[in-house]
Parts: sequence; structure tokens; C-alpha cells
Amino acid sequence: MKKKIHLIVGARPNFMKMAPLYKEFTKFPEEFEVKLIHTGQHYDERMSKFFFDDLQMPKPDEYLEVGSGTHGKQTAKIMERYEKVLLKDKPDLIIVAGDVNSTAACAIDAVKLHIPVAHLEAGLRSFARTMPEEINRILTDAISNYLLTPSLDGDENLLAEGVPKEKIFFVGNIMIDSLMQYQDRAKKSDILNKIDIDSQQDYALITLHRPSNVDSKTGLLTILNAFEEISKSINLIFPIHPRTTKQIKVFGLEEKVKNMKNLHLILPVGYYDFLKLQMEAKFILTDSGGIQEESTYFGVPCLTLRPNTERPITITEGTNKLVKLETEDIIKEAKEIISSNIKKGEIPKYWDGRTAERIVKIFKD
Ligand code: UD1
Ligand code: UDP
Repeated sequence: MKKKIHLIVGARPNFMKMAPLYKEFTKFPEEFEVKLIHTGQHYDERMSKFFFDDLQMPKPDEYLEVGSGTHGKQTAKIMERYEKVLLKDKPDLIIVAGDVNSTAACAIDAVKLHIPVAHLEAGLRSFARTMPEEINRILTDAISNYLLTPSLDGDENLLAEGVPKEKIFFVGNIMIDSLMQYQDRAKKSDILNKIDIDSQQDYALITLHRPSNVDSKTGLLTILNAFEEISKSINLIFPIHPRTTKQIKVFGLEEKVKNMKNLHLILPVGYYDFLKLQMEAKFILTDSGGIQEESTYFGVPCLTLRPNTERPITITEGTNKLVKLETEDIIKEAKEIISSNIKKGEIPKYWDGRTAERIVKIFKD
């Protein structure tokens, strides 16, 4: 009997985690029947369709069209719509990734119908429960049957929470599977020609979307003021997340951003283009989870604009550094890198492009 498996995607960081797994499962059509379920948490072309194209994924088998909303509303909508799919389809296993609302919502649905759940990227903890993603991580790990960890700190966190070790599988970092598969293609991206900067000049790459950074005017200004000063020394390329675009409008900061001469504000870009922007950057300023990892793989210094990280290995082994959220601290750290005081790093264990292979092995009887 074939095992029926649902792979869940919903938001931008899910696509590059599920694509390699989808491909690996479909190598064994006699053993697995795999369906791709898209909740529609992210729905803009640039937050969703671009990734299906770049990552060569088929159209989802189910598209739940939940869209945006408050946490309660979005989570409830996903649960209501995905439950119907589960009741109709009765899979043997569902696999969820990361820490977005779609992750926790679908896991809760499945476990209540006694359908086993595997959590990809299990065990990560920022230990800050004010972060919505930390709640999603804790909830999903607590109810999942298979905890697939990207690094050994994940195993340690789960063991410390009393999770039996038979449930924990150190499989490695699946984002790196996608990165390794597509980095040659990404090198050919012409994104830098499209942005109006001299190709010989250095630039720093920026992303910003955490509610704690962009949902208050003071918090956002603290960071934008630092960008303003840093942009006097280096070009800044900023593919801006829709949440941040919205907040800049709400706080009336559009003119301020427009007037920063060397700040190149662009719409969110596809996967190849973003890998290219990362690999060529002098350094990265971000509050993203995944970008802390990708920059470590590329050996590009990363300044993380957050008081904590659920990915400490990017600091202990990689090129990442947390920066205090004060304008002067952000400027100081950036200037240190500009004057070539660069942190070097190593690539952590099992960030080797073979994570999907290790995962599929677990489920092959
Ligand atoms: C979500 C995840 C976050 C992840 C991020 C990746 C949760 C709780 N948060 O945050 O962990 O790091 O995705 O990018 O799941 N919007 C659009 N178009 C879209 C999607 C969103 O315009 O396609 C706008 C809407 O105004 C929406 C806002 O962005 O209200 C926030 O979207 P949402 O999915 O709630 O959270 P993110 O900030 O994207
Ligand atoms: N990314 C992208 N285009 C962009 C910004 C990010 O392709 O304009 C990719 C990035 O390479 C990484 C993932 O999106 O693979 C990270 O997603 P995001 O920062 O939205 O979410 P997080 O990791 O913080 O949850």
C-alpha cells in the first residue's frame, strides 16, 4: 500500500523547504503518493507564485485561499479549510515546516484526527514567547510525531523539554538542499543589472518584516535612521516585504525612505534573484530566520536586527551576529564590516544538500 503524504506550504519561507522534499518523495512513486497543500497565507505573486516557478514545483493539489488576517482569524480559517481536506483525503502522514501560522494550524488539525505529523525544522527556540513564531514552534513540536531537526541545538532543546529521543531525527537543514541545487542558476541572475548601481560598487542587502521591528513607529524609525546613516557609506538594496510596505505607509514614512539617496527599494524578488543578491553582498542586515542560515552558508556576514535568535548555530559556527536595536549600535556594527572587520564562519553539520534524502529514508518503511 502506498503511503499518502501531504506536504504543507503557506508562506514564503515554506516553499524552499518543501520543494526538495517533494522531489525526493516523487522519486519513489511505488511507495508514496504525495500531495502539495497550499494554505494561501501568502498569496501575492512575488510571495508565492515566483517560488513555484523558480523551484520548479507543480501547482498545489489543494489551494485553501485563506489570505491575511489577525492570528486568530487566519489560524481558524486554515484549520477549518484544511480539516475538510483531511477528512476527504485521509492521508497517512502530513509534513509541516518552520514556524508560521500555517504550520501550527495544519498540525493541530491532523493530530486531532489521529493523523501523524512530521515537523521539519523542529526544536528551534528563541525563548521569547512574545514572538508569534515561538508559540507556533512550541505548539507544533509538542504535538508532532516526528521531530526533524536542522541542527543539534534543536535536539538539545527538545530533550530538555522531555521529548523522547525516539521521536527526534537530526536530518540537517533542508533550505540548504534548495540553495545548493539552485546556486549555479542563481549566479546567472541579472538582478544587479536591473538595479541602478555601479556593478563594481559594494552593497549591503536588507530585509525587514518582524512585527517587533516594523509594527511600531518608534521601532521602525530606530532602524530606518540607522539605514539612513549607513547608506552614506554603502549602497543598500532593500527588497521590501508587504508587511513593511504597509507599515511605512501607515506611519507616513514614505518620503523619508524615498529621500535616502543610496537606498534602493525594490519589490520582493524571486528565489534565484535573492540568492544572487545574498552571494554578492558585502553584508546583510535582516530580521529573517532563513536568511541568517543562507548567509552562513554563503560566508557573507549577517547582522541580525533582533535581540535573540532561534538559530544560534549561525552565530557559534556561522557568520551571524545579533545587533542591539539602537540606531547607534546598528551603525557601529555596519561600519565595522565596511572597514573590513569581517566575521568568518563555517558551514554546520548536515547543511550538505542531502537533508531531503535523509528524511525520505525515515519514511521508507
Ligand atoms: C509570516 C510569518 C513569519 C514569516 C513571514 C515570512 C506568521 C505568524 N508569520 O509573517 O513567521 O517570517 O511570514 O515572510 O505566520 N501581505 C501581502 N501579501 C501577501 C502576504 C502578506 O500583502 O502575499 C501583507 C498583508 O498586509 C498581511 C501582512 O503582509 O496582513 C502580514 O502577512 P502575514 O502572513 O500575516 O505575516 P508575515 O508578516 O508575512
Ligand atoms: N527570499 C526571497 N526573496 C526575497 C526575500 C527573501 O526569495 O525578496 C527568500 C530567502 O532567500 C529565504 C526565504 O525567502 O530562502 C526567507 O523567507 P522570509 O525572510 O520571508 O521568512 P523567515 O525565514 O523569516 O520566516
